[in-house]
Amino acid sequence: MRCIENGTLRSPLPSPIMHPKSLLGLMTAIYNPSAETASPSAIHPLEPLSADEILQAVAILKSEKNLGDRVRFISITLNEPAKDTVLHYAPGTDYEREAFAVVLDNATGGAYEAIVSLTQESVTGWQPISGAQPPIALDEFLDCEAAVKASPEFQAALHRRGITDMSLVCVDPWSAGWYKDDPASDQGLRLSRALCWVRSAPGDNQYAHPVDGLIVMVDLNSMTVLRVEDHELRPVPAEPGNYTIEMIQSDALKAGVTEVFRTDLKPIEITQPEGPSFTVEGHQVRWQKWNFRIGFNPREGLVLYTIGYEDQGRVRPIIYRASLAEMTVPYGDAGITQCRKNAFDVGEYGVGALANPLKLGCDCLGEIRYFDAVMANTRGEIFEIENAICMHEEDFGILWKHTDWRTNQVEVRRSRRLVVSFIATVGNYEYGFFWYFYQDGSIQYEVKLTGIMVTAAVLGTEKPEYGTEIMPQLYAPNHQHVFCVRLDMAIDGQQNSVYEVDTEPAPLNDQNPYGNAFYAKQTLLKTEQEAQRLVDPFKARYWKIVNPSVHNRMGYPVGYKIAPGENGLPFAHPESSIMQRAGYMDKHLWVTPYDSKERFPAGDYPNQNAGGEGLPAWTQANESIENTDLVVWYTFNHNHIPRCEDWPVMPVAYTGFMLKPVNFFDLNPAHDVPPSAAKHKCH
Ligand code: CO
Repeated sequence: MRCIENGTLRSPLPSPIMHPKSLLGLMTAIYNPSAETASPSAIHPLEPLSADEILQAVAILKSEKNLGDRVRFISITLNEPAKDTVLHYAPGTDYEREAFAVVLDNATGGAYEAIVSLTQESVTGWQPISGAQPPIALDEFLDCEAAVKASPEFQAALHRRGITDMSLVCVDPWSAGWYKDDPASDQGLRLSRALCWVRSAPGDNQYAHPVDGLIVMVDLNSMTVLRVEDHELRPVPAEPGNYTIEMIQSDALKAGVTEVFRTDLKPIEITQPEGPSFTVEGHQVRWQKWNFRIGFNPREGLVLYTIGYEDQGRVRPIIYRASLAEMTVPYGDAGITQCRKNAFDVGEYGVGALANPLKLGCDCLGEIRYFDAVMANTRGEIFEIENAICMHEEDFGILWKHTDWRTNQVEVRRSRRLVVSFIATVGNYEYGFFWYFYQDGSIQYEVKLTGIMVTAAVLGTEKPEYGTEIMPQLYAPNHQHVFCVRLDMAIDGQQNSVYEVDTEPAPLNDQNPYGNAFYAKQTLLKTEQEAQRLVDPFKARYWKIVNPSVHNRMGYPVGYKIAPGENGLPFAHPESSIMQRAGYMDKHLWVTPYDSKERFPAGDYPNQNAGGEGLPAWTQANESIENTDLVVWYTFNHNHIPRCEDWPVMPVAYTGFMLKPVNFFDLNPAHDVPPSAAKHKCH
């Protein structure tokens, strides 16, 4: 295993673009790669904010808005300029460089959205956030845990359970959600519905030992415990559920076992002696014929912009902006500690802020190019995650093959894919978010789910109804992971349309006398409400985004299709709180005309939001989505009925979808991939 870190691929930072000048000229005509230097107009409009720019925004906000000591900066990120500014940008073009900040005043409980012009050095937008709370920041996790552990009432509840060593107690600040029966006095407070675990020793996996029946309501503004809800005394499960090297070895030693790891693994080395095939300039990436730009923000994490493919002597646009815009984890257990447990990992916590630094581990194999994530902590200081984004190439088996069995002529090509990814730790769970680019023009989005399941304690001897007992007296509740990817499409330009394509049997008649015929039935989705659709594997259903004005050689409108993968529907009741708050989960496909304000499918601030916002609200107007600048939202649902094999740490579960060209090209775009190099020659 070889990871390239600081000193090799990482520096000097922006490596020069190495492709021929002629091609660069053609590329800039559509999607402009940029050169990053000091003057604002030379910074590409989509280049993430630098540390200096973040500090500048903080300073401007503090002085202009007289922000006191108890103000938290929940997020400070690039305020993305208008599409036109980006698409018409050339180095030297003037535009307004802006930061977007979410500010929380712990003293007053007020929360605000701010726009800071770094060009004018002033606050140009300032708006209160009402009816909801900004996301819970990472600093608040730690402050909340400390506040709960210091509470005498909480300590008394633990004493009743025989727990006295507070250093072993862990408190997870779950978002509070929104429930009709919450006390009226909670209204307007910034809440966490915190849950508790206890390690048996330092380094032990606390999720093996839930302190069930105990819920702590915390006011995150005052960082005080509002109340301790001590519902029932469930015994804390005792058996360890360890997975770290140290703990496995120490547990094995206690049991008299000497060999803890299997011993028959031989090394696999991935080497690229001539280096990777991609080039990077700032955050602009070119690999094979793919072009795109990398961005990152605390809420969505990795964002890809201006994805295009070099073809016919130019870069043909495909997607203007792609990101995971929301994800929701509804829990399906009626138990008292579990029934209000839901998480919006994007909108309530921010998967970007929770990204792993990949510096020390080797999460990716091969020649790695890392990108850092530069953000602010809640005090407005720079919070940098080194190597947050990993980019590398992977061999991906066979790209295409044919043997002429008469002549024994064999043609085979190896497939290679470019991987751009990051991994977030959201409390107990890990999510790996992976974009793959293929040589045949396909794009794949894949989420890898791993980490540790959240747990509860079994009461009595009955098997739990809404979960799986994974160790004696310990169970993992049923839940779902629902992801919504926002795709601001740009198939060969901004004016696109969407078709639903079902495969249907032709009727048995004179034209189809043998009854064997079937055909692709295409239905144009004309309005927002017509475009609220579900997957249908029995009709081999897919959705095709086309540019009706651009045709390939054979006269078909050029397009890309969403090829669904695993999917399902939520099981929560339509009247449940979570279905009101995450209504987007009800449909797999949504299409909306582009609106710069419509970014998040469950609304801008899902935290403590009563619901109804986002996609269900926007599409009430039932606007036309025909031949216009449109945004496609694809929702996919990974259902998780826990297995004993998911414990103590889950083997990766994969979920996602593909975007595949449909008559976008004139023929297989990968037919020009050369045979493998001589030393790997296979025939
Ligand atoms: Co799960």
